[in-house]
Amino acid sequence: MTADAFPALSGLAYGGDYNPEQWPREVWDEDVRLMQEAGVNLVSVGIFSWALLEPKEGLFEFGWLDELLELLHANGIAVDLGTPSVSPPAWFFHQYPESRVTLSDGTVMGFGSRGMASHASTEYRAAIERMAAELAQRYGTHPAVVMWHVHNEYGVPVAEDFGPRAVASWRRWLQQRYETLEALNAAWGTAFWGQCYDDWEHVVAPAATPTTVNPAMKLDWARFTDEQLRECFRLECEAIRAHATQPITTNFMAHQSWNTDLWKWGREVDVVSDDHYLWCADEEAHIALALSADLTRSVARGNPWMLLEHSTSAVNWQGRNVAKRPGEMRRNAMTHLGRGADAIMFFQWRASRSGAEKFHSAMVPHAGPQSRVFREVVQLGAHLKALEEIKGSRVMADVAVLYDWESLWAQDLEWRPSDDLQFRERMRAYYERLWCDDVTVDFAHPEDDLSRYRLVVAPASYLLTKAAGENLTSYVAGGGTLLVSCFSGIVDEHDRVHEGGFGAPLRDALGLTVEEFLPLREGATMSVELDGERLSADVWAEHIALCGAQVRGTFADGPGAGLPAITRHTHGDGQGWYVGTRLSSAELSAVMSGVYADAGIAPAAHHEALEVVTRRGDSHDFVIVVNHGDADAELTIIGTDLLTGSRIDGTLELAGGDVAVVRTAQSRQGGDHR
Ligand code: GAL
Repeated sequence: MTADAFPALSGLAYGGDYNPEQWPREVWDEDVRLMQEAGVNLVSVGIFSWALLEPKEGLFEFGWLDELLELLHANGIAVDLGTPSVSPPAWFFHQYPESRVTLSDGTVMGFGSRGMASHASTEYRAAIERMAAELAQRYGTHPAVVMWHVHNEYGVPVAEDFGPRAVASWRRWLQQRYETLEALNAAWGTAFWGQCYDDWEHVVAPAATPTTVNPAMKLDWARFTDEQLRECFRLECEAIRAHATQPITTNFMAHQSWNTDLWKWGREVDVVSDDHYLWCADEEAHIALALSADLTRSVARGNPWMLLEHSTSAVNWQGRNVAKRPGEMRRNAMTHLGRGADAIMFFQWRASRSGAEKFHSAMVPHAGPQSRVFREVVQLGAHLKALEEIKGSRVMADVAVLYDWESLWAQDLEWRPSDDLQFRERMRAYYERLWCDDVTVDFAHPEDDLSRYRLVVAPASYLLTKAAGENLTSYVAGGGTLLVSCFSGIVDEHDRVHEGGFGAPLRDALGLTVEEFLPLREGATMSVELDGERLSADVWAEHIALCGAQVRGTFADGPGAGLPAITRHTHGDGQGWYVGTRLSSAELSAVMSGVYADAGIAPAAHHEALEVVTRRGDSHDFVIVVNHGDADAELTIIGTDLLTGSRIDGTLELAGGDVAVVRTAQSRQGGDHR
């Protein structure tokens, strides 16, 4: 992936999914007129159009799409052309019923929804390859088409397939991975419960079983499923690349995806893109949004990325679909932009009258253009136009948070010490602390080169390979500050407990191992004493075996009463901090002050409701400021607010809910090596 792989548009991209096949032809003309009014310059087209494009097997009808692309092009609107592989037509499943997905309990998924094709079906693979080739042949040089949008959200709604063909592919995949059954038996620890295999044909998939299934098999199954999805993606990409040169993307769902290891996917796409929706039950959903944006930028390895979908207001697929408040859509968009997005797009352009998503918000709502939502859509388009010079600028971070999808898959399996200790919850708590302190972070894989970061935080590194352990240890030895949360460094890549005590791969970096886990009963709490302060903790205590670390915090009560809870260790030129319990983001504050001091990081002094992120351009910094609170807030800064054109001579005053983007002189903050 290269920066110039970004679609050829003069400014930031603005628009959304456009599904005009749901509307009579005359509506298209109104659509392009309103798109122009809103400043839309890019739309994603054709994602669900297979049934129209190939109404009968081998019969392709492109006339309507030709006309649509001409219309968009004539009106200066570029196209992100979808391949419709997420939703094969009725005739396909009628003709090839074995191409449907089988669930772990044997249920075969029926037609009438979307995303129900089996990645293992040879007919499905042949059909998507042919469709991609047909589209690329026809539109590979079309002036409207600036990029390709392959499939839609891989792994959603179903990724795993337990049908006979998938199981046959699984066996082939395992044979390639392990070569011999001895190696497979060793990796899966099949001596336990007498699961040894002596014939490849006997190897099963982790479908429904009487009790917990072999966790190492389950972890490999997750890797296999992800790889199968990528194989399908590659098939389409190759078919497109044979006829077309525009960049290819597929829309990820960074922190919300489960089945896709985005570190691997990030290497396959020309440009990284993401979809993000607020989770209504989360009253601080803008923090989850920021996390997702930082993760997406990190998957893009710092390159500009595209927000391909978010919502103008309510979604329709949660239990209670809360509408966005006036100004909230703009705040959301500015957070994505601040964290590196060069495209702000929505699902979808015009609200659907029929179908499963008729109550989902859109850029043009059912109420039509005379509506609050459309007025805000027009305002956002004007803002993005005013911010064109930001395009291509980069976010710099001094802190990395470790994120590994393999560790997520392994940690959240059944039968672990406590169901209450969860990957995503810990990730959020630590991220939220950093967010509230206004410390911008990248995410990184535990085996990445981390030497440019002052601080590395590991909120949930249950699976940690030997190589990752060595990487983190030499990071600390070289002068880095490492903060590790409990239940980390426990198993290797086969979900086998590391020898030498829990956490052994980090023994040198942290100066400890863990002798025994002491989880709490549901709802129980305890106290930790740290520097004379009493912190409230829950879920997890443990018996730490010190080998050099200095005790900073102690369990005051609960199952670990009197034992160390929080430690700091000097190894080489750096420090390894360890938190052996679950602390809320607020309680983590007391730990972080020491960690920041070691890392040489100064948390922000401004109001907590203010989100402040910097993008570095060639000659200026652009400071994106979002006020998530209701009250007015102030920020000390000198520069020009690009949204209002006004000069700021020291104090930016931002009303509750408002946003600003300030062009300033370049600061030294961010990205400087330690
Ligand atoms: C996305 C999907 C879109 C639409 C949207 C609704 O996950 O890609 O097609 O369904 O959700 O929020």
